[in-house]
Amino acid sequence: MIIAVDGPTASGKGTIAKALAKHYRLPHLDTGLLYRAVGRQVFLDGGDPDNAGDALTACTFPDGLLLDPELRTEDTGGLASRVSVHRSVREALFERQRSFALQPGGAVLDGRDVGTVIAPEAQVKLFVVASVEARALRRWKEMQERGNGRTLAEIENDLRLRDERDLNRAEAPLRAADDAVMLDTSELNRDEAIAAAIDLVERKL
Ligand code: C5P
Repeated sequence: MIIAVDGPTASGKGTIAKALAKHYRLPHLDTGLLYRAVGRQVFLDGGDPDNAGDALTACTFPDGLLLDPELRTEDTGGLASRVSVHRSVREALFERQRSFALQPGGAVLDGRDVGTVIAPEAQVKLFVVASVEARALRRWKEMQERGNGRTLAEIENDLRLRDERDLNRAEAPLRAADDAVMLDTSELNRDEAIAAAIDLVERKL
């Protein structure tokens, strides 16, 4: 069974994907982490994330980089969204994601194009959305806990920029697959969102 969980930044897709993987005892891949590693590697190389050549070179990042806590920062998220517009980068990361999806026994993958490009044959495709206000508030609370003092308005602005880039790029823009089920988490807390996701998966099985 392949479960594809796509959606915009801070929609809750990562939390949901992790919980589904645990519930169904399946391996999980956060595909955004691969793009974050490429963004981080470009930065470490002193390259330009908007330059396709620099971004492609960074795709040969060492596996150990996936464990770098810096990958989780907003800055690296911004770099990831810039390197991810290049077709060569998406192609370079394709096989790794594809083979993860096809491993015997199945897998859960979350990202932007899992249901449309990486594993269009996935039995279950969830498209997780939430209002930009709800997503900004979640990010803000997370950051407060980590002692990061960015304002709600700054975070909301960043989210809008990233959404725009992910939605309007030519290569694999963020969109729901025709056979995806929508899950709006704006009004749901963590446990409610997970319960709703499991319920949707159960109906597909
Ligand atoms: O999901 P996350 O915020 O970690 O993703 C960081 C960036 O990587 C996204 O803004 C998006 O531009 C890019 N990405 C992508 N395709 C994916 C996963 C992430 O283009 N499958």
